[in-house]
Amino acid sequence: MVSLLNTLAKEEDSLVDIGCGTGQTLQLISGQTRIRNLFGIDPSLNSLVEARNKGDFTLIPGSILDDALVASFGPRFRFAVLAFVLHHLIGRTRVESWRRAQAALTNATCLLQQGGYLFVVEEIVHPSFVAGYAFYLKKLFSHISAERIDPLKTDFSLGAPVVSYLTTYQLRRMVSGTLGLRVVNMHAQEKALRRVYRLAGINRIATVTLVAQKTL
Ligand SMILES: C[S@@+](CC[C@H](N)C(=O)[O-])C[C@H]1O[C@@H](n2cnc3c(N)ncnc32)[C@H](O)[C@@H]1O
Repeated sequence: MVSLLNTLAKEEDSLVDIGCGTGQTLQLISGQTRIRNLFGIDPSLNSLVEARNKGDFTLIPGSILDDALVASFGPRFRFAVLAFVLHHLIGRTRVESWRRAQAALTNATCLLQQGGYLFVVEEIVHPSFVAGYAFYLKKLFSHISAERIDPLKTDFSLGAPVVSYLTTYQLRRMVSGTLGLRVVNMHAQEKALRRVYRLAGINRIATVTLVAQKTL
């Protein structure tokens, strides 16, 4: 992402990190690119307090699913980043979660200037039915405890946070199906599969970075 930003970006360009959390990505971009006009959006006030200490960013408390917030900014950014956010936009069902992820992509596109770029970074899990049963299992356990439940220290908690992982195919289809977006680049970094994941039926985990340009 950083090398592509360095190829494309001019100093006057602006970038919004949607779901910026504690500001790690903003800090990286501010340290390694020439972009100075950096914004972050996140509903977690605690995370934004941490992000504030990481650099000179404009931080906005709020959700990318808030149409009014998105409309108040309009298409002013040359770049937008959605890193590890889509799988957190969960609804009551998997289908509802996919709709939220799609709505986030649509709203992210609304924040972009024509010709601007959206970087989507997601942890993907294959096959989809395993991500599906993990979603419902985590949902069930999250009613029992609001804490992570991971007695075997697998990095895969049974309870909170509930997440709805996509496959590469689902992610790509979602991004390319977003009105006004054209996928221009895609890259996957594979993760080693721990035995416990294989036993759970997972056959692939990767971090996928997808770059899309706003054409309309
Ligand atoms: C796994 S963290 C990723 C943080 C950061 N993007 C990174 O890569 O380090 C997911 C973030 O998405 C944020 N988030 C959850 N729902 C959101 C929403 N509706 N709109 C924007 N951000 C959201 C969370 O508050 C959290 O900071």
